[in-house]
Amino acid sequence: MISEKVLKAFNDQINEELYSSYLYLSMSAYFESKNMRGFANWFRIQSVEENMHAMKFFDFVNQVGGKVTLKQINAPKINWKSAMEVFKETLAHEKHITAQIHKLVGIANQEKDYASQSFLQWFVNEQVEEEANVQDLIYKLEMIGDNKGGLYMLDRELGARATGQ
Ligand code: FEO
Repeated sequence: MISEKVLKAFNDQINEELYSSYLYLSMSAYFESKNMRGFANWFRIQSVEENMHAMKFFDFVNQVGGKVTLKQINAPKINWKSAMEVFKETLAHEKHITAQIHKLVGIANQEKDYASQSFLQWFVNEQVEEEANVQDLIYKLEMIGDNKGGLYMLDRELGARATGQ
C-alpha cells in the first residue's frame, strides 16, 4: 500500500507529465504554423512520450492500491521567437522535471517505499537521456546559426524521428 505522502507526490507528478505533454504539443503547433514540419514531428512525438510517462505513474498508483486524482492542466505558452528559444525552454523544463523526479526519490526513501524507489529508477535514467538529447539539438542549432540550409537539413532529420526514439 502506498503512503499518503507518496500518493500525493505521484498524483502531482501525473499533472507535471500531462502538462509536459501539453507544452510539447503547443511547441509542435508553433512549428506547424511556421511550416517546419520536421520540428513539429519531433515535438509531437515528445508530447506522446510525456503522455506515456503520465500513464506509467497512473498504472503504478493503481497497481499499489492508490487512487489517481487528476487535476487541471495549466495552459501552455503558444508562441516563441525561434527554434533555439523553444529548445532552450525545453531543456529548462526537462531540468525542472529531473528535479521533481529526484524529489520523488527522496520522498520514497523517507517513506521506506522500496517499490516506488525501484519504479522511479526508470525515470531517473530517462531524464539523463532526455536532457542529453535536447542539449545535443541545442549544440546543432548553435552550429547552424542563421544558415537557412542548415535549418532545413535539421528539419529533415527531425522529421525522420519515429515513436520510441
Ligand atoms: Fe517526462 Fe520529458 O520528462
